[in-house]
Parts: sequence; structure tokens; C-alpha cells
Amino acid sequence: MENLGQETAFEVLAKAKALERQGKNIVHLEIGEPDFDTPKNIKEAAIKAINAGYTHYGPSAGIPEMREAIAEYISKTRGIKAETDEVVVTPGGKPIMFFAILACVNPGEEVLYPNPGFPIYESVVNFIDAKAVPTPLEEENDFKLDPEYVKEKITKKTKMIILNSPGNPTGGVLGREDLKVIADCIANRDDVVVLSDEIYSEIIYEGKNESITQFPGMKEKTVILDGFSKTYAMTGWRLGYGVMRKDLAAKVARLMNNCNSCTCTFTQMAGIEALKGPQEDVRKMVAEFKKRREVIVTGLNNIEGITCKKPRGAFYVFPNITGTGMTSQKLADYILNEAGVAVLSGTSFGKYGEGYLRLSFANSVENIKKALERISNAVKKL
Ligand SMILES: Cc1ncc(COP(=O)(O)O)c(C=O)c1O
Repeated sequence: MENLGQETAFEVLAKAKALERQGKNIVHLEIGEPDFDTPKNIKEAAIKAINAGYTHYGPSAGIPEMREAIAEYISKTRGIKAETDEVVVTPGGKPIMFFAILACVNPGEEVLYPNPGFPIYESVVNFIDAKAVPTPLEEENDFKLDPEYVKEKITKKTKMIILNSPGNPTGGVLGREDLKVIADCIANRDDVVVLSDEIYSEIIYEGKNESITQFPGMKEKTVILDGFSKTYAMTGWRLGYGVMRKDLAAKVARLMNNCNSCTCTFTQMAGIEALKGPQEDVRKMVAEFKKRREVIVTGLNNIEGITCKKPRGAFYVFPNITGTGMTSQKLADYILNEAGVAVLSGTSFGKYGEGYLRLSFANSVENIKKALERISNAVKKL
């Protein structure tokens, strides 16, 4: 258990809640979830499904209609032909990380993963006694993975390459050309699996999401992780999925069988509505995130000691705070205690996150402005 890490966002949330109980006003920019309500048509589909009796166990890999709806959606958005039996529905996208790593990687094998990146990748790789090999994401490269690092770090022992675009915590986005270089790197490696975390695929501000699966031979080598939490503001519903080769899907379904039996059945029926129903609410949410992105990036760049690049996707900024003279963790603690704004230290996402903070802009413009003013005043006192 010593090797198993965790997502610090939940710890910081608990600390912030404790301060609120003492009467302190806190602006929450720590947790990665849309502040919008789940669209009405999706909620109504869930209620209808409960009333129609979708309250029992279902197949471990997911309800067939749901798997079919996901296969259709992935085929359309990734430009590949995804089949129903290549889909496994899970309670959130997160279990796909755990299951794909468990199913594919043996102790001692190497996994390349983005750093700073979602902390669970490194945590699970360490947990199973495999070797976590960081591929740094650098500010000067707009926090997108430089494919040269993949070329440099890949060895005979490499079993998995984890990609995350648009990325948490940096908002970096991989372009078609970058993905092509990575695909070329493993063209002759049938033993390597790519875990492509595309959970923010619909939250992108310039251009469109590109998936490594579009290159010849890559669909068979890739596990796409996606879900409903971010796109449809459904974090609490716990609904996500993986799309992967049929034989691997059967193994991941067996892990589901051992672990959860199945994903909640009425939320799956709501998921079908999410994918097939009107997408107007998603467009509205993304447009609103885009407005907030302007406010938060401009505001942070106006604070002395802080500079901030504009993220191309997801709903996080990853400002450089080295000009404040403080370490990331000290500054995050100071901002919480002094300014009443909950933010995360860049180091919560790995060692290459030192010198940065992560702020989520999945909060109202009013709260973002309040947070910026408070941070500015607190930093001035340093
Ligand atoms: C990069 C990334 N992948 C996966 C997830 C997990 O999403 P879910 O809530 O659907 O499990 C998150 C959630 O924060 C994330 O940021």
C-alpha cells in the first residue's frame, strides 16, 4: 500500500471544507469538475430508466445498447471503426486506467507517462511494481508531450505509453503531427499498448481532438479512455468507458466482473441519451469555459511573480509561480490559508510540476475574479 498514491485534489478539498466549517470563506479552484448541472434531458432519461426497471445488475462489460452507442460515437469522432465488443463501460473513466494497467503491464515492465500529469497513472504503475518512466511536459512546448521524449525513453522493457490530450493539469493538446511521430516510434512494437486518456476530448478551444488511433495499426494497440464526467457535467454519476481490442476488452470486463460486477444500469441508459440526444448544452458549457479561460489567464498574468500560458483544452491553468520565490506547495498552502482560495500545487502532478500551481476554471466568472483579487493581494504581501 505504501506504493499507492492518490489524487491530492480530494485532500485539499477536505482541508478547504474544514476551513469553511471554521467560518472562513473559500473559493474552490482545486477540484476538476464542471460547476454546471447535468443537462435536463440526461437527468430525465435516468429517471425514466429507473421507472422502467433499470435497477438491477447488467452485463459486466455494459448494456449492449450503451456499448453500441459508444462504439458509434467513437467511430464518428475518431474516424475509426469501433465495434460494440471493443467497448467496456465502467463507473467513471478512472477504472479504465487501473484495469488497463493491471491487464497489460507486468511487474518490472516500464510505463511512459506524462509528468506533470494525472497522478493516478504513476500511482497505479508503482502499485503493481512496474517502473513509472516520466515523459516531461514543458512550458516552452506549451505543455504538450515532446515526441522526442518518447523516442528517447522507450526501451525493450516499455510495455505501455500513456498519453493524455487535452491534458490535466496543463491543458496541453497533442497535434496530429506529434501523434504521428509517437505512432511511428512503436510501428514495429506489437508488445506496446497506448493508453490514450481522452476524457477532455470535447473540451477543446482551438481545433479538434486528434486521437492516435487514426494512424494505421494504432487502433489495435490503443486503449481509448473517455467518459461522461467532464463533457456532460456528470462527475457524480460515475460513468465512463474504454475502447480497446476485443480480446483485451474481454479481460477488462473480467476485471469489472471481479470488482464492480457491472456499471449502474440506469446511469448507462442516461449515457445513451447523453451521446444521442441534443449536444447544445455541451457547446454552451465549452463556450462558457472559453470565456472564463480569458478571465483567469489575463488575471494571473497581471499578478507580479506569476505568468500563465493559455491552455488549449480542458478547464485548468498551470501558471508559472517561480517569480514569487516560493515553492509550489508552500504557495498553494499560503494561498489557501491567507487568501481563502483552494488551488493545487503543481507537484501534486509529479516532480516536473515544481514551479507551478493548478487552478481549475470550472467556476463562475464572479468567483474567478474574486479568487484573482485575493491571490493578487496575498502575493503582494510576500
Ligand atoms: C486526465 C483525467 N483522466 C481521467 C479522469 C477520471 O474521470 P472520471 O471522473 O470519469 O473517473 C480525470 C478526472 O479528473 C482526469 O482528469
